[in-house]
Amino acid sequence: MTDTANRYLVGNFAPIEHEVTAFDLQVIGTIPADLEGRYLRNGPNPLGPADPSNHHWFMGDGMVHGVRLRGGRAEWYRNRYVGSRDLNESRGLPDIEGANWSGNGGGPNTNVGGFAGTTWAMVEAGGTPVELTYELESIARNDFFGTLPGAFTAHPKVDPDTGEMHAMAYGWPHWTDHVQYIVVGTDGRVRRTVDIPVPGMIMLHDMSLTGRYAVVYDMPVTVDFDLAFAGRFPFRWNPDHGSRLGLLPREGDAADIIWIDVPISYVFHPMNAFDQADGSVVIDLCVYDRVFDADILGPFGDNFARLERWVLQPGARTCSTTVIDHSSTEFPRHRGSLTAKPYRYGYCASPTNGPDWATVKYDLSSGERTVLNHGPGRGGGEPVFVARPDSSAEDDGWIITFVHDVPSSSAELVIIDAQDFARGPVARVLLPQRVPYGFHGNWVSDRSVPPPA
Ligand SMILES: [Fe+2]
Repeated sequence: MTDTANRYLVGNFAPIEHEVTAFDLQVIGTIPADLEGRYLRNGPNPLGPADPSNHHWFMGDGMVHGVRLRGGRAEWYRNRYVGSRDLNESRGLPDIEGANWSGNGGGPNTNVGGFAGTTWAMVEAGGTPVELTYELESIARNDFFGTLPGAFTAHPKVDPDTGEMHAMAYGWPHWTDHVQYIVVGTDGRVRRTVDIPVPGMIMLHDMSLTGRYAVVYDMPVTVDFDLAFAGRFPFRWNPDHGSRLGLLPREGDAADIIWIDVPISYVFHPMNAFDQADGSVVIDLCVYDRVFDADILGPFGDNFARLERWVLQPGARTCSTTVIDHSSTEFPRHRGSLTAKPYRYGYCASPTNGPDWATVKYDLSSGERTVLNHGPGRGGGEPVFVARPDSSAEDDGWIITFVHDVPSSSAELVIIDAQDFARGPVARVLLPQRVPYGFHGNWVSDRSVPPPA
């Protein structure tokens, strides 16, 4: 089998070889002066040769790319592998420090952000978070200072009112009959956990949070033991499992969960969710008709997702669905101060089978859809919204994302005025090397995670 047989190893999916540090990056346009901090993004970057016959996109070693902005300048770019036992073994080094609940040799490759005053790389399925320095070197695995009982997730939700972090986790291969809800306090210590029984082992990628509920996604991607015993990515499409969402009252127990059947489908990522006055729950999400069915190497070979609004009625236990956009949508984001609250604007990437991935803004009140095309052969990743200081309008802020220029094998950090997509980027920071397609990241302001003194 040639490399071309695995779309997740060629083109801009292909890993890069070097960890690079570069200072005073060239900028086209003007970096807003209020942006002082780091844009960070995690993604898989297998170290050493990967077997194209079975390499799954989700399985590569984690690599964080970061750009530090201050005073209208792009002070540095760095990319660093996230520390793990496997990575260190391949480099002839001992394992990194820190408890390893699952015994998993891989490191976090899925998300990176700031919380409790420091920087965390995260992954689902049992890998312990890894704490990073400001300059992206791995310090150690950190199980929230000894308080995390087991698995964690790459998709925690931070409540903007309390500052607490909420998560739903599954633990491959240890937790065969339950998932777990976890609340982490602002001190970085786990405050509460709830074990949630589920029939079989599901791949639980994300969650939703509203004022009343933490939402469990029990959807039909489950463990396949034939794949597992073959040492491959062990989860596969299984529509016989059924598909349901669980509304767990935030301070309730598993017995309090209201389970509601939803369409047979899979959701990696909700955009946001909130309660309505009549008791219903609104969730906007990117919905796949199926995943890991024909394509068991990654998410894009079966179909792309569309953006839908689901309204759950806890009393009647019903779910009504409305398509917001039939076009391809992924990596949904919103203004973080409105997590779990009514909101108007969302932002997505629009993946394609080629390199042209537009950035899309949704006005969920008017239905307006605004598209920013990045040019031929160019595509944007997850669009991270950063509010302008003291802004009142919901969309008064910046969209930050990496743009991949596939024909020239290069990448840029692009900053867009979220209220003015038509203007195009206000700043393009030229990066010193290509950035492979990756998963998730965040803007981490220097106020939330200060640089070293
Ligand atoms: Fe994700």
